[in-house]
Amino acid sequence: MRSKVVIFGANGFIGHHLIRRLLSCKEYEVHGIDLSLDRLNEFADQEGFRASVMDIEAGIGPVLEAIESADIVIPLVAIANPLSYVRQPLRVFELDFEANLPIVRGCAQFGKFLLFPSTSEVYGMSQDKDFNPDDSNLVMGPIHKQRWIYATCKQLMDRVIYALGYEQELNYAIFRPFNWFGSGLDSIDTPREGGSRVVTNFLGSLLRGEDLVLVNGGTQRRSFTYIDDGIDALVRIIENRGGLANRQIFNIGNPNNDYTIRELAEMMIDIATPALSSRWKSSPPTLQIESEDNFYGIGYQDINHRRPNIDKTTRLLGWHPKIDMRDGLRRVVSHYASEMASGH
Ligand code: UGA
Repeated sequence: MRSKVVIFGANGFIGHHLIRRLLSCKEYEVHGIDLSLDRLNEFADQEGFRASVMDIEAGIGPVLEAIESADIVIPLVAIANPLSYVRQPLRVFELDFEANLPIVRGCAQFGKFLLFPSTSEVYGMSQDKDFNPDDSNLVMGPIHKQRWIYATCKQLMDRVIYALGYEQELNYAIFRPFNWFGSGLDSIDTPREGGSRVVTNFLGSLLRGEDLVLVNGGTQRRSFTYIDDGIDALVRIIENRGGLANRQIFNIGNPNNDYTIRELAEMMIDIATPALSSRWKSSPPTLQIESEDNFYGIGYQDINHRRPNIDKTTRLLGWHPKIDMRDGLRRVVSHYASEMASGH
């Protein structure tokens, strides 16, 4: 019998990529739930898929019904972009923590496997060279630096889930994505001022022929992970061979794609120039430096380095990220270049 997977926030970046992969396995029945379903239309006629419009903040009844019908529950509804942490911290708390808590509790109540998205941000300003899910301290900034509300909400939910496993036998896995990127991450049309995450921001600027902005000079580092690699790890957790994923926290990131933001910008200009230069009115986009206060606002504080230790993910799931940075960026650029060519 096929396992039944319920995904809240199915229409988002991770959700729609994950559904495509799960349906191609033919081993799952997938119920995708979201406020809008436009990115799920392509799956409408596929066997084993159904979609529902639902607002998880509108009432718990339908949410619990969906959980009860599932074997595996994946709640992906969240605000996950830093500008919102600074501008709407309360909304981040309401959606990322409050709205997700009944789903987490529902999984404990009905005995369902919970696959919960934590974040690489929970490691915060840890001084470890690479971050280990079972050993690293989680280091947040002061309260008036509102950007930490996101990481704190996620950290608290990780602790609630752990406690539900300890006291109420909840079975779960927690995953921490490290700067996943790919097609469909944020909207390419958002103006550059921090409305999207960095790869989309840079790509949007390149499409419009605008300069790329390096916050604080771009010396901070991130480990970028191509979406297909991330989805591959998630599918291995969902398969859960031998129960090895039970009650584990997994980093899902590519330590080999560890670059400064300046290096990322240079690479993107290099890769995008052949595909996009015909759109640029005059000289190619250059790099501009801006302070974090100007770019995001005073509630922002940056993270200097963020590299995952993936030993456990490799050992328990047999997972290795395969797609290197340039290859991943080429795929993203060619995706948007072909969308533009077809008039989308
Ligand atoms: C992200 C987001 O909080 C979440 O999406 C997620 O949980 C997590 O990290 C993750 O994906 O691992 P961050 O890495 O700071 O946080 O996200 P970006 O907005 O992509 O910024 C990366 C770096 O680029 C930051 O240092 C930022 O200051 C810089 N940046 C961003 C620029 O220099 N220029 C830009 O135009 C945008």
